[in-house]
Amino acid sequence: MANPYRILTLNKISAQGLKRFPAESYQVASDVDLPDAILVRSQVMHDMEIPASVKAIARAGAGTNNVPVAKMSARGIPVFNAAGANANAVKELVIAGMLLSARNIVPALQFVAGLAGDDATVHKLVEDGKKHFAGIELRGRTLGVIGLGAIGRQVADTALALGMRVQGYDPEITVEGAWSLSSQVKKAQSIEELLRHSDFVTLHVPLLDATRGLIDASRVKAMKSGSVLLNFSRDAIVDSDAVLAGLHEKHLRGYVCDFPSQTLQGQAGVVTLPHLGASTEEAEENCAVMVVDQVRDYLEHGN
Ligand code: MLT
Repeated sequence: MANPYRILTLNKISAQGLKRFPAESYQVASDVDLPDAILVRSQVMHDMEIPASVKAIARAGAGTNNVPVAKMSARGIPVFNAAGANANAVKELVIAGMLLSARNIVPALQFVAGLAGDDATVHKLVEDGKKHFAGIELRGRTLGVIGLGAIGRQVADTALALGMRVQGYDPEITVEGAWSLSSQVKKAQSIEELLRHSDFVTLHVPLLDATRGLIDASRVKAMKSGSVLLNFSRDAIVDSDAVLAGLHEKHLRGYVCDFPSQTLQGQAGVVTLPHLGASTEEAEENCAVMVVDQVRDYLEHGN
């Protein structure tokens, strides 16, 4: 192989994406020396020694908080991401999360798993038990979307299709984002205004200094009584202790998040998932294709 580009993969990256690296000019592996580029998904790179040979880093996902972006910029190393490539997958799981909470699916599954006895006994237990799981419908309820990037906008559109009212907040919305946002999405002037009027609140902001702890105790208190918070962004955006207090006071109906949480695990009203938002075959392929093309363009053409 004459002078191949070397690509180091720190996580499993979809084969559909990796096969876009021509085999005659690229060596791609999880153990290459002196890589020209690094492909990463979830591995945290902040304490990693980045070899001098590296010219580009690409994250096969939207968020880049696991990559030392500022340090790399100072070295002139671009950090690419796959903005929007997994938005549909995350959106679908957010809608599922709303339904899980609205219909009490998790405790209902636990109840069914614990049923024992003959058919007549089980029938009686079901008839007595199901009243504890009566839920609410999404239609007619208000969803507040904080962050109107690719994911937030898709969640808003699907919620509208389900008959929900939708309000959104994003002081940093792009011009393109503003154009593609449905006119049925009411713009809230502040996070507090959105929280006061929403039955469900979903977060779609990156983890930055400005968003760490964005939903703190005062904002949990500002939420509408009986509302549900959904966090499919990053764990640190929400103060878990504040959410726990809100749940214990019955101020919040539920919290659905895409991260395991020591504080919240097993608490009534809480659903925690192992960061599955972008974990679909399609999203993994879309992200890999996008970042492989970005890396190739950069290495081969410098843009
Ligand atoms: C993202 O930032 O898009 C997700 O964290 C992707 C992932 O799960 O790898």
